[in-house]
Amino acid sequence: MRAPVNFDALAPTYDATRGADQWMLDRFLARLPLGRDTVVLEFGCGTGNQLAALQARCGCRGIGVDPSAGMQAVARTKGLDVRHGDHARIPLADGTVDFAFACDVVHHVADLDAMFAQLHRVLRSGSPFAIRTRSHPQLRAAFFNRWFPSLAQIDCARYPSLEALRDAASRHGFAADGDEVMSFMQLDIVDATLVTNIELKNWPHLRLLPEHEYEIGLAQLRAALGQRFDSPGAGQTLLWFKRGVKAAQ
Ligand SMILES: C[S@@+](CC[C@H](N)C(=O)[O-])C[C@H]1O[C@@H](n2cnc3c(N)ncnc32)[C@H](O)[C@@H]1O
Repeated sequence: MRAPVNFDALAPTYDATRGADQWMLDRFLARLPLGRDTVVLEFGCGTGNQLAALQARCGCRGIGVDPSAGMQAVARTKGLDVRHGDHARIPLADGTVDFAFACDVVHHVADLDAMFAQLHRVLRSGSPFAIRTRSHPQLRAAFFNRWFPSLAQIDCARYPSLEALRDAASRHGFAADGDEVMSFMQLDIVDATLVTNIELKNWPHLRLLPEHEYEIGLAQLRAALGQRFDSPGAGQTLLWFKRGVKAAQ
């Protein structure tokens, strides 16, 4: 089940639910010589939290691409260079990008083959591409599942497996170049902001829950205000790829 999410509607409240992922940016900066002369593409940049923080940290030339006019508008308020595009069309010339990344995007992409083909086209030969996503075991261990047990199944149906991503990448000339796992949780405490975000269904997967389960889970969550929870096995995975040469068809 991959129900399309209306990101134009979510754009005004999006930054209340997510910010820059400093763990991921640390990984980028530890691995890559990013600086003033580097062109970095964030594919599916949304409101630009990741790209703005990366630019501030290393001075790279960031370009964001996103299909949602609402998300683009918020990103432009942060001074970012944002272009309209998606998996079928990245509006950049061939071989002009030094590093590309996609954070929390691939589960929204209807055609991974088209996405990898476009990224292969715009990246320079030998350049890295990083995907931050969640594996199915990580989805099954997620923080919210204790209150909303159907989410594990809903999210496993939405997210491509890591194997499916590696297979699609390999079909389009990308070599796997190591995975990194973020095993700590960015969310582990039930605070008032979290409860408000759940009440407003600011995370789109909450809108896919049966209403009865949502109401019961919300009541239990409110009762857990102030408590901290461990979620062993939850987290994120950063998949690294290197743009190589496509095999002859
Ligand atoms: C969960 S947000 C992530 C935004 C940003 N990368 C971040 O980390 O905050 C997903 C973004 O993917 C974009 N998106 C959805 N479908 C896409 C597609 N087919 N190609 C590129 N981006 C897409 C959405 O418009 C949205 O801005």
